[in-house]
Amino acid sequence: MQIESIEIKNYRLFRDAKLGNLPQLAIIVGANGSGKSTLFDVFTFLKEALTQNVATAVARRGGFKELVSRGETGPISMTVKFRESGGRLATYQLDIAEDAGRPVVDREVLKFRRGQYGQPWHFVDFSRGHGSAITNESAYGEEGAKEVRKEHVLDDPSVLAIKGLGQFKEFRVVAEFRSLIENWHISDFHISEARPSAEAGYAEHLSTRGDNIAQVAQYLYEHHRDKFDRVLKIMSERVPGVTKVDAEPTVDGRLVLRFQDGSFKDPFIARYVSDGTIKMFAYLILLYDPKPHPLLAVEEPENHLYPDLMLELAEEFRDYARRGGQVFVSTHSPDFVNGAKLEEIFWLVKRKGFTEVHRALDSDTLRGLVEEGDLPGALWKQGLFEGASPK
Ligand SMILES: Nc1ncnc2c1ncn2[C@@H]1O[C@H](COP(=O)(O)OP(=O)(O)OP(=O)(O)O)[C@@H](O)[C@H]1O
Ligand SMILES: [Mg+2]
Repeated sequence: MQIESIEIKNYRLFRDAKLGNLPQLAIIVGANGSGKSTLFDVFTFLKEALTQNVATAVARRGGFKELVSRGETGPISMTVKFRESGGRLATYQLDIAEDAGRPVVDREVLKFRRGQYGQPWHFVDFSRGHGSAITNESAYGEEGAKEVRKEHVLDDPSVLAIKGLGQFKEFRVVAEFRSLIENWHISDFHISEARPSAEAGYAEHLSTRGDNIAQVAQYLYEHHRDKFDRVLKIMSERVPGVTKVDAEPTVDGRLVLRFQDGSFKDPFIARYVSDGTIKMFAYLILLYDPKPHPLLAVEEPENHLYPDLMLELAEEFRDYARRGGQVFVSTHSPDFVNGAKLEEIFWLVKRKGFTEVHRALDSDTLRGLVEEGDLPGALWKQGLFEGASPK
């Protein structure tokens, strides 16, 4: 399952922007304040709206007036087109307005594209707590089938219908979309949080901030030794001296991550190894996850890492996307972008306060130069990503 496009309106500096033809690995560049983190936040917003409600997600971002694009009144809108596992293109649209000071769902639609079966079926179509949903999802696509609808009223107009109506669990397309959004993961790794020992416990996936890295390392070691050995081998190739990493239980029931340097007898505990050593280990743990997230975002993976390692890292993100679902990476690193394919690169330009989205493959100049052997990161540095540079 893959997101093909996302259209955003009135969400902070995304007043009216669309990212189309999204690949499995999308690499986003742009000046400071051009909207990279905000783009990722749209997915986090959807996840919070889905797991809690729209009012909570808006409140967490300072309230409706802070969140809506400056000078606009709304609605705040996001439209995600995705290909479900059956191969059909579905659209989920969510519009949020303010009603008597409270954010509400102004419109929520989940539909299939108009196609060979005529009009698209609106599986879900709600506005402010009232609406209808289909009762014969499985008939879609059958010869002569007509949609059968049932009216519903939700208890709370700030709850999403795809969450609030329990019967949707049986709708494959709803279930898939929910699981994609609920499993959205953003990696915002903080070295300082990965350094201390962790309480002994069980964790299969690296947390957003990376504070459970010792537990995940232990999990991989015990349950996926092949992956763990792979991570170690790559570590030793990329960080000079590192020969072994383990998670050592302490007497007081904690786990300490230890890095062995081949030149010395005793390992260094995480507190005393270099920033980049921990960071590289964390990325490898994240990227060799036996069960990848269907949707992963990583902010500026280049920080703390040696530039020559960026090409391999880009390839590892691509591999992860191939195994998992889809990956979004924001970066300020031309070395990382050198490892990108043109169709993977998008750049954001902030003009008059709002974001414009550009897709590298749409530029004839860039296509021509890359065909001749130029590297995308070098072209970016030469100023060929028009408007991307703040200067
Ligand atoms: N309601 C709003 N309307 C318009 N613009 C907004 C609104 N809220 C925030 N912004 C703008 O969005 C910017 C934040 O952009 P964002 O954090 O997404 O940038 P970024 O590309 O991640 O930058 P960096 O490279 O520095 O991390 C703010 O600096 C502000 O200018
Ligand atoms: Mg940012």
